[in-house]
Amino acid sequence: MSETESLMWVEKYRPQRLEDIVNQEASVGRLIQMAKKPQDMPHLLFAGPPGTGKTTAALCAARVILGDYWRDFTLDLNASDERGIDTVRQRVKTFARYVDRRVDVPFRIIILDEADEMTSAAQTALRRVIEDSSRICRFILIANYSSGIIEPIQSRCAVFHFSRLGLEDVAGRLEEICKTEGVKVGREALEAIFELTGGDMRHALNLLQAVAMGGEVTADGVRKAIGLSGKARVKEVVTRALEGDFSGSRSGLVELISVYGMPEKDFLKYSSEELLNLGLPSVGEVAEVLAKYDYRLAVGARAEVQLAALLAELGRIGREMGFKAEAVKTRAATAKKQ
Ligand SMILES: Nc1ncnc2c1ncn2[C@@H]1O[C@H](COP(=O)(O)OP(=O)(O)OP(=O)(O)O)[C@@H](O)[C@H]1O
Ligand SMILES: [Mg+2]
Repeated sequence: MSETESLMWVEKYRPQRLEDIVNQEASVGRLIQMAKKPQDMPHLLFAGPPGTGKTTAALCAARVILGDYWRDFTLDLNASDERGIDTVRQRVKTFARYVDRRVDVPFRIIILDEADEMTSAAQTALRRVIEDSSRICRFILIANYSSGIIEPIQSRCAVFHFSRLGLEDVAGRLEEICKTEGVKVGREALEAIFELTGGDMRHALNLLQAVAMGGEVTADGVRKAIGLSGKARVKEVVTRALEGDFSGSRSGLVELISVYGMPEKDFLKYSSEELLNLGLPSVGEVAEVLAKYDYRLAVGARAEVQLAALLAELGRIGREMGFKAEAVKTRAATAKKQ
């Protein structure tokens, strides 16, 4: 671990043992069982939202299965960084060929992160790579959505689903860390962090660490650190979309998701709340559009593309009804006075 990494709480407090992973009982339980009889272990596919323990679980599994020399026998690749399937193939080949007779390990492990970022052509080629190296290597593929992995690969893997963490899991873990670090934190602050990070532990830890620099973590400090609350930002994004400013609203969307780590589903949830509260004349049509995108996200379509399409549709609806943000504000203000 580099010095900067050890200063980051996400790395400092990354669980080292499968047993220390919070919440993912079903997946972790199965993994612990598998690790007891590694000879029978198939390739694995870990799927789930960001910051829920997929990479951590892969590293912990490598550690128990391969023992002390796990680092030497584990290859960690990021499918979206490695340029193309040819690089992946080359690196796997070199790794599988590398001979080390010091220890007796059942196989080598190749962790391929963000495997769903690979095109289906690249995945088809990957399938061959997996087959060719199966005698010596086991793959752990990691993806946000298992539906992003082609069927022939899925069918060769045992699939593990990771779910978003709940309030108590996140709050409990953060509280423990604050205790170790000697930082004061209250229940309200923990709830605020959870609300703003929606079950993404990496994001929660980063936010906690940013606020904890002052020695005390308060709900107010949390909200200040993240700027306006996520919900207020969503409102701005959908209002811009309705006004026809597609590129402005889309960059707001990207910022919310990538910089603030808002889960795509939450963006849709907050958008629904905001849109249905605006008192638009075409509220029925808006509800139908929201339902359509909710379904598409649920079946695993690429979320950022779908949400951008939602913003474009809102632009059309806004244009058709001559949407003006000012009019909405005035209407809301009058309603409040009455
Ligand atoms: N279930 C968990 N229990 C304890 N800590 C966790 C858990 N999930 C995530 N973390 C913390 O968050 C950090 C990031 O987790 P990890 O890298 O495993 O996420 P991931 O699921 O691989 O996310 P991504 O899809 O973004 O790669 C870890 O270093 C760890 O500190
Ligand atoms: Mg990961």
